[in-house]
Amino acid sequence: MSKLKYRNKLADMPSYDVVERSWNIKVNANESGMNLPPLVEERVMSRLSRVAFNRYPNEDLETLMEAIGRNFGMGVENVLIGNGSSEIIEKIFYCFGGRGRKIVFPQPSFSMYHIYAKAAEAEAVPVDLSGEDYSLDVREYVNIVNDSKASLCVVCNPNNPTGNVLPIEDIEYIAAHTSCAFLVDEAYIEFYGKSAVSLLKKYPNMIVARTFSKAYGLAACRCGYMLASAPITEMIAKSFMPYHMDVLTLVTADTVFQMRDEFVPRIQMTIAERNRMGGQYGSLTGFKVFPSNTNFILVKYDRAEALNEYLVSRGIGVRSFGRARLLENTLRISMGNREENDMVFKAVEAFTKEN
Ligand SMILES: Cc1ncc(COP(=O)(O)O)c(C=O)c1O
Repeated sequence: MSKLKYRNKLADMPSYDVVERSWNIKVNANESGMNLPPLVEERVMSRLSRVAFNRYPNEDLETLMEAIGRNFGMGVENVLIGNGSSEIIEKIFYCFGGRGRKIVFPQPSFSMYHIYAKAAEAEAVPVDLSGEDYSLDVREYVNIVNDSKASLCVVCNPNNPTGNVLPIEDIEYIAAHTSCAFLVDEAYIEFYGKSAVSLLKKYPNMIVARTFSKAYGLAACRCGYMLASAPITEMIAKSFMPYHMDVLTLVTADTVFQMRDEFVPRIQMTIAERNRMGGQYGSLTGFKVFPSNTNFILVKYDRAEALNEYLVSRGIGVRSFGRARLLENTLRISMGNREENDMVFKAVEAFTKEN
């Protein structure tokens, strides 16, 4: 067999390491436990039935960009839409990456930052979160960004998988004391509420990324967006293919965005469930629960790996981090509906009693 000439270093690229199967209860990917609210679904289906499948998507992209921009007091020139915030983040890393460039981000955080930095041929510079509460020392962070002459620095707020937040003052401190591009990944912001979007006007190097996949239950559609100053969006836009967003996603996301008030009760319910379940897991012997401002909770338990295997054997999928740095013996449990949360908890409790 001939040896194919793949791109240099492609073989060394890590793969996204989540193994999926058909779970009885799936709480491993921070998705919404509920499908679209019926009213929203009805409206989506009605709009989809009128789509011109023979045409490349055109005004649908602009319509959604306008609606999102208007919501934040910005124009279309400040908005870019991607196939999930994954695509947005990957493009940002690509545009500020390249050989000799450094990209700084906290660790542990969203595991894809490492992979996108590598894919962009940039050097990843992870900064350890510290202490029992996974806090970020923003002064140290800023020093690392500036000393390494980074081209891009990133924070995830609230942070996945630790669930904690950086106060807005700390985000502003980073923006004010760095001169490179600064991405704030707000994938879980709806469960916290204190966005950094208001800082964008004052700090033109800042970018905020958001997603429809979590609070708006649209993970299947792959839609996310970024907000930034026009010079930044103009440059990042160059990295997208023509017609990169498909019309089905655009129409669905636009409907969800127009009807976003329909999602408020379920966001509140998820927050209530997170607080309830945090209390329950905290009552189990040997469990440490990290405070969360998201739709998931991170727990630490000496026998986390064995517990994970036990849950897997019962068809319950949580996210185990194996031996990932600073995440030893932790499991991340997304919030499903009340019944699912109770079933997951019962299984966890049974394991702790049996072992
Ligand atoms: C912090 C963070 N950012 C971005 C994403 C990507 O989400 P999506 O591509 O579905 O918008 C995720 C998904 O889990 C995430 O946890």
